[in-house]
Amino acid sequence: MLNPRLDRLTGYPFQRLRELLADIPAPPGLTPIALSIGEPQHAPPPVITEHLVAHAAEWSRYPLIDGTPDFRRAIADWLRRRYRLAEGMVDPDRHVLPVAGTREGLFLSGLLAVPESKGGGKPLALVPNPYYHVWAGSAAMAGAQPVFLPATAANRFSPPLDALEPALLDRVAVAVICSPSNPCGSVASLESLVHAVELARRHDFLLVSDECYSEIYPGSPPPGALEACASLGGRLDNVLVFNSLSKRSSAPGLRSGFAAGDARLIAAFKRLRSYAATAVPYPVLAASAALWRDEEHVTRNRDLYREKFALARSVLSGRYGFFVPEGGFFLWLEVGDGEAAARALWREAALRVLPGAYIAEDGPDGNPGRNYVRVALVHDQAVTAEALERLVRVLR
Ligand SMILES: Cc1ncc(COP(=O)(O)O)c(C=O)c1O
Repeated sequence: MLNPRLDRLTGYPFQRLRELLADIPAPPGLTPIALSIGEPQHAPPPVITEHLVAHAAEWSRYPLIDGTPDFRRAIADWLRRRYRLAEGMVDPDRHVLPVAGTREGLFLSGLLAVPESKGGGKPLALVPNPYYHVWAGSAAMAGAQPVFLPATAANRFSPPLDALEPALLDRVAVAVICSPSNPCGSVASLESLVHAVELARRHDFLLVSDECYSEIYPGSPPPGALEACASLGGRLDNVLVFNSLSKRSSAPGLRSGFAAGDARLIAAFKRLRSYAATAVPYPVLAASAALWRDEEHVTRNRDLYREKFALARSVLSGRYGFFVPEGGFFLWLEVGDGEAAARALWREAALRVLPGAYIAEDGPDGNPGRNYVRVALVHDQAVTAEALERLVRVLR
C-alpha cells in the first residue's frame, strides 16, 4: 500500500543525530547549545510584525497560489537590483512565484521536471554531495536516480559538471546547484554558472539553483544563476532559482521564499502548486515584500556573521582545516571521525553538531562528509563565543 519510493527517504539527518546522542546524557551544569540546525537566531526585523498586524484582516482570505502583484514586483525588483539585470528581464507576472519556504519549492521541482524516461533510460538528478536532504528526497519521490557529485577540498567544494559524459547529461532531468553551498560554503563563479546554464539548455534539463544563502557572505556578493542567464542574452530557459527570507532576514518561521525563472516552468509550477502546495498567506506576503525591499537589516545581519567568523578565525585558525566560507553561516570542520566528534562534543560540552556523513552519501571514494562536522554559527556573539571555546576544549 505504501509508495515504495518512500524507502529512499531514510536517514533524515536530524533524526540520525537524535539517535546518535540518545543514550548520552548532557554534562550537568552546561546549557546545551544547538549548532546542528541552520536556524538563524538573530532577532527578526520588527517590520514583519508591523505588516502582519496591518494586514490582519486578510487572514480571512484564502490566498492565491501566485501571491500578490506587489509581492511579485518586490521580487522582480530585488533580483534586478541584486544581480544588475536589465529592466524587464524578470517579469513579475511570468517569471516569479512565491513558495512557502524554499524547502517545499525545491521538493516539488523534481515533480515538475522528471519524466518517465529521458535520453533512453531512467531519468537522473545531479545532486552535490554533501547535500541538503530535500534535493535528494525530491529526486527520489519524483522517480529520478540521484547522481551524487562529490564536493571535496580537492575541487574547492564545487563539483564541476563538465566532467560528465554527454550521454549521461542527456539522461539528466534535473540538476541542483547551491551557491553559497550548504554545508561547505563554496561560491560558484559566474563562469561556472554560465556553463551550468548552457549544459541545461544543451541537454534539456531543469537547472535548480538554490541560492538561499546568497545574502550571507564576508566579501563580495556571490553571483547567481539569473546573472548567468543575463550574460547569455537574458533568456531564462531551463532555469529556476530559489531564494528565501529564512537566512537573509533571519525569519525561518515566516516560511517565505520564491522561485524565479523560465516562464514555461513557472506556469507549470503554478499549476502543480495549485494542487500540491500551501499558498503563502496575504499578511506573510505583505511582510515579505517589505523585507525584500529593505537592505539595511540584511547588511546588519551580514555584519553579525562577519563578526562571528572573525571570532571563529581567532579561536579555530590552524585547526580542523578551518576556513572562513565564501558564503553561508556554516563551519565545515575536518575533525577525523565526524560521528565520534559529535558524540564527544555532546557528552563533554553539551554542543550539538551535525556529523558530515549524515548529509553526504557514500561514493566510490568513500563518504565526503565522514571526516567533518557541520557547525551552524546561528547564535548571538556571546553564545557563539561560549560554543567555540567549549568546542576547542573538547577537540583540542
Ligand atoms: C541549502 C538549503 N536550501 C533550502 C533550505 C530551505 O530553507 P527554507 O525552506 O527555510 O526557505 C535550507 C534550509 O536550511 C537549506 O540549507
